[in-house]
Amino acid sequence: MEIKKQLEQALAAIHEALTQVVTPNDLADLKAKYLGKKGVVAEWMSAMKNLTPEERPAFGQLVNEAKNRINDVIESFRQKMEDRRVAEKLANEAVDVTLPGRTIPMGSKHLINQIIEEVEDLFIGMGYTVKEGPEIEQDLYNFEMLNLPKSHPARDMQATFYITDELLLRTHTSPVQVRTLLENGGKKPIKIICPGKVYRRDEDDMTHSHQFTQIEALVVDEYVTLADLKGTLLTLARKMFGDDRQIRLRPSYFPFTEPSVEVDISCYQCHGKGCPMCKHTGWIEILGAGMVNNAVLEATGYDKTKYQGFALGVGVERLAILKYGIDDIRAFFTNDLRFNRQFK
Ligand code: DAH
Repeated sequence: MEIKKQLEQALAAIHEALTQVVTPNDLADLKAKYLGKKGVVAEWMSAMKNLTPEERPAFGQLVNEAKNRINDVIESFRQKMEDRRVAEKLANEAVDVTLPGRTIPMGSKHLINQIIEEVEDLFIGMGYTVKEGPEIEQDLYNFEMLNLPKSHPARDMQATFYITDELLLRTHTSPVQVRTLLENGGKKPIKIICPGKVYRRDEDDMTHSHQFTQIEALVVDEYVTLADLKGTLLTLARKMFGDDRQIRLRPSYFPFTEPSVEVDISCYQCHGKGCPMCKHTGWIEILGAGMVNNAVLEATGYDKTKYQGFALGVGVERLAILKYGIDDIRAFFTNDLRFNRQFK
């Protein structure tokens, strides 16, 4: 029958057309061309009216079969397309869990910060709080109220970067003492440490630097004595330089403390026998300290008959240099990563 031939031709044409199908839309167009309302199959259907009633059932059956076969071909192609799409998607999104991870380079804390934190931990454990103050400071707090009036010769000990007559880069962390005393308005006991950067007008060389770091400690309360200072210094020395350290206090002079002391630790290299580290004295100087001068207490509104205090100021670079045998203080701020990374 004629229709059979047409079906074979149509199927051949469809197979041919399918080789050009790329997108789902292409496939929908093809389907519409054959199975749509005005498609090829619909045309065959409409030819039915020209047949005799006897011929119609057999013809109708044939067209139906043809329609089903065309539909099967197109649908199975759609299925294959979909399978391929899913397979591609899975392949693209696959994660190879066996790949080695990427290492993220980790920074490390600067040695100065490590030491500050070590000292902070120790003092926090003894009930202190950490205070900070500004690096641009008033002459009033950096000098004047620390018992260093304008004409005082001891000002020469700290070559100062002045900004104006009254403003400067702080030469030590001691002004934080003044600020804290003033904040507490003559009352309340005080127990603070203050880490921070300080500045001096020095020529940079292996042992001098225009900037360095100090940690100040201040205790003010009733019944504070030199023995409390001594105990605190011994605890600090042993924490930083080993449990078998001894300390030695030598009389010294700072305008803001009276009496003032220079603190030495027993040499941890030769244990007192004498070596280049301690310049053959058996002792290494580490910091300055003393009992808060009455003049400072009075200037900040404290009753000197009721309150006493002690203070100490330690150079953080000095601690690091001693602890790790570093020979050039400039290494702390020139930020050569090869230096910094040694202290992870
Ligand atoms: N401020 C002193 C300096 O930079 C160090 C110092 C000495 C601080 C004695 C103190 C102290 O608190 O009591 O040279």
